[in-house]
Amino acid sequence: PKASRAKISQLTNLRGQRVRVFGWVHRLRDQKGIIFIVLRDGTGYLQTVLSGRVAQTYAALTLTIESTVELNGTLQQLPEGKTAPGGHELIVDYWRVIGAAPGADDAFTNRLNEKSDPSIQADLRHLVLRGENASGVLRLRSYLLSAFLEGGATLFKLDYYGQPAFLTQSSQLYLETCLPSLGDVFCVQESFRAENSHTRRHLSEYTHLEAELAFIDFNDLMAHIEEIICKTVDILLANPISAGLIKSLNPNFSAPSRPFIRLNYVEAINWLNEHGIQHPEEDTDGNPIKDSSGQIKMVDHQVGDDIAEAAERQMTDIIGKPVFLYGFPAELKAFYMKRMPKKPGDSEKLTFTESCDLLMPNVGEIVGGSMRISDEEELLAAYKKEGIDSAPYYWYTDQRKYGTTEHGGYGLGVERFLAWLANRYTVRECSLYPRWPGRATP
Ligand code: 4AD
Ligand code: MG
Repeated sequence: PKASRAKISQLTNLRGQRVRVFGWVHRLRDQKGIIFIVLRDGTGYLQTVLSGRVAQTYAALTLTIESTVELNGTLQQLPEGKTAPGGHELIVDYWRVIGAAPGADDAFTNRLNEKSDPSIQADLRHLVLRGENASGVLRLRSYLLSAFLEGGATLFKLDYYGQPAFLTQSSQLYLETCLPSLGDVFCVQESFRAENSHTRRHLSEYTHLEAELAFIDFNDLMAHIEEIICKTVDILLANPISAGLIKSLNPNFSAPSRPFIRLNYVEAINWLNEHGIQHPEEDTDGNPIKDSSGQIKMVDHQVGDDIAEAAERQMTDIIGKPVFLYGFPAELKAFYMKRMPKKPGDSEKLTFTESCDLLMPNVGEIVGGSMRISDEEELLAAYKKEGIDSAPYYWYTDQRKYGTTEHGGYGLGVERFLAWLANRYTVRECSLYPRWPGRATP
């Protein structure tokens, strides 16, 4: 009978029939003249069996992993006690090699495994992608992005000339200008950062989900961020495919409980000191100071200090749950952040802001957000304090002139969210072709 052509993910309905599949030899085993191939086509994995005449050809004897093949045969449900992806296997009666691969003598099989040098893994990213974990992370990434859109749909969907549409804009300040015309808005877009940061969580190019909401207060903003994180996780866990990917990549994952812990900046500084978490003392240029034996000098945190990545990570790892850190000093944050009114007992020289970072175990900050200055005079003073020429920002200032409102928003790093969700060591595993200082290939 003629074979029907199918993708591996569509095979369940074709059991008992002759099928034709195309794909890559993902795994290969020769057992006493019977050849077992696990075929991969990007939609799934299929166990296949070549025996007798079809296993005794030159092509069969020289077959290598990562070769592309066409396989034809009968799809059989597996007998009790045997397991394979999909619960079936293909008994091959006709097959051919489409493109051979170098096999055992090659970089892919020899140089590359989970313990390979990271720079080799990065050079060979185009091949690493073929692995189950690497492709699983990217597949989960795609489910993650569509879950955000579902989760946010009630808030951010626009009526665009009668058609449903999602607004995309380039950055926060522009998003703010959209509030009066379109209401609450969001965009998902690449952001580029020319920072010389060689850390587990910095990329030079990353995918940035940003949103801006009008007529809210600071508590609404944090509640909204919490909601979008939890809703997205719920949507991913409700879908059997994304739930399965999370389970295999991060077996200990469980949905975070609400409400998230909220810790203001001063409480966080005290918490760090109570837990003996120090930071390197820096000179006026920001370089760590070393003692006479060359050791970096560690000191306690003081109110006014930045909470650097290392301290932040230690804190979230100890707490082990999502934490909102909020109320950072204006001196540490961007010019547009709304100032908190001074309270009795507040430091004389510091002004705190309605800002928040959401920290996740294993990653640290995944979201940064704030309320924005809504008063024109206050904004002009903030430009001045930062030494920013206000002229080119006329359109931003105008927002405060033409019907201002309390508003706020946030930015979420998609790769960092994914690193948390899939328990990856670094965000570099969460991007298709990650870029960082010195890395622009392949
Ligand atoms: O905290 P950031 O710098 O905030 C902003 O850019 C605001 N304008 C966003 C807004 O309010 N609309 O960046 C926001 C998030 C961070 O929390 C982090 O998750 C991610 O973007 N991020 C990075 N991810 C990977 N590599 C980098 N170099 C990143 N820098 C920031
Ligand atoms: Mg930030």
